[in-house]
Amino acid sequence: MKQISVIFVLFIVLGLDAINGYDCKIVQFIFGDSLSDVGNNRNLPRSLAQANLPFYGIDFGNGLPNGRFTNGRTVSDIIGDKIGLPRPVAFLDPSMNEDVILESGVNYASGGGGILNETGGYFIQRFSLWKQIELFQGTQDLVVAKIGKKEADKFFQQARYVVALGSNDFINNYLMPVYSDSWKYNDQTFVDYLMETLDSQLRVMIQDTPDVL
Ligand SMILES: *[C@@H]1O[C@H](CO)[C@@H](O)[C@H](O)[C@H]1NC(C)=O
Repeated sequence: MKQISVIFVLFIVLGLDAINGYDCKIVQFIFGDSLSDVGNNRNLPRSLAQANLPFYGIDFGNGLPNGRFTNGRTVSDIIGDKIGLPRPVAFLDPSMNEDVILESGVNYASGGGGILNETGGYFIQRFSLWKQIELFQGTQDLVVAKIGKKEADKFFQQARYVVALGSNDFINNYLMPVYSDSWKYNDQTFVDYLMETLDSQLRVMIQDTPDVL
């Protein structure tokens, strides 16, 4: 049996050191799946991937489900807290606006989402990585309209980017016979397809802020 030689969860943090003389806050933009979702699916009314069972959130805030698929903080919460960055607000949070983006960044992560569009289809609603990147482009437009292109470029260049997903492309796609990807590909060609897709996604993500890399 061939082994799938890929790290299931990709965790990439891209960033650039603070730019001198600019006092906009350093914030994070988070792209991911249920490991990083802080409330997007909660605001997707038809999504079947929901973190609303009683044990979710028991060690967080008031102990009630808060949209995180965990009892406490997400991995991104923990890493961001350690670095000392504000916790980005879920893209679909009702409080989301330009000021919130500039203060704390945005979290686009969505339970059930994957690198591939078809991943997690049976959850009906979830943001795939392409969708999350599309939403990020909308965020960039909003910030440019609010503070101008020059300042916005600096803001996005000094921000931190977390891209952490990939396990659903196996669990809720390739390894499930209900998805055509499970019979169209073999282990190696599927991993190649994933990596090619992620490569083009990261390029589109940073096209307006090439200095991030
Ligand atoms: C995935 O969806 C995006 C839009 O959300 C689209 O631009 C892209 O072509 C789609 N990719 C495939 C392989 O269907």
